[in-house]
Amino acid sequence: MYNRKDAFYRKAKKEGYKSRAAYKLTELNKKYALYNPNSRVLDAGCSPGGWSQIVLETVKKQPVVGVDLIQVEGMGHPNFHFVLGDLTDNEVLLRVLAVCPEFDTVLSDAAPNTSGTKLLDHVNSCDLVKIIFDFTKKVLRKNGNFCFKLFDGEDTQELLKAVRKCFSMVKVIRPSATRKSSFEIYVVCKGYTGEKE
Ligand SMILES: C[S@@+](CC[C@H](N)C(=O)[O-])C[C@H]1O[C@@H](n2cnc3c(N)ncnc32)[C@H](O)[C@@H]1O
Repeated sequence: MYNRKDAFYRKAKKEGYKSRAAYKLTELNKKYALYNPNSRVLDAGCSPGGWSQIVLETVKKQPVVGVDLIQVEGMGHPNFHFVLGDLTDNEVLLRVLAVCPEFDTVLSDAAPNTSGTKLLDHVNSCDLVKIIFDFTKKVLRKNGNFCFKLFDGEDTQELLKAVRKCFSMVKVIRPSATRKSSFEIYVVCKGYTGEKE
């Protein structure tokens, strides 16, 4: 069992962030410059909104589009556009593209509900990442950046192989705000080389 109210949880509450995940993105962006003030950013699996809050501290004028199955409350930012829906649904893709036809950065902290069985959670996470990767190929501009979460496991290398074909740089990271007990990893992909599908 992890301590839900650990130091990052308390820090997020104190500093007004909607989730402790906010600190993972802060670290990832500091190290890998995933977005900048001029970036159009898609936040896939954004609820409750911690990553979008962090992005909106940097991106002031360009659209930040969040998608999730669960409503995001109280963002109250004119550049934030929320699309309620399932990333596996093609109609959601069309709604995202209607808000912003192309993105400089796609972020995905999306995760399936966990079962407690590591192999099943890994397989479900891989399936979700593959869908988000396909989604990304439809919306990301050439040379754009992509960062996604994955529950690590035996199919990770095969998935990374597919991703490496489309980006000039791919790195696997475990941010320090990740719980010790978690088997999540983040994959940072820079310089999209592929053409849109
Ligand atoms: C760990 S949370 C994201 C936390 C967020 N980055 C933050 O900082 O507040 C993962 C999210 O992925 C969403 N998600 C999982 N599968 C999804 C799907 N198929 N379509 C849309 N959202 C999905 C879940 O609803 C959940 O809110």
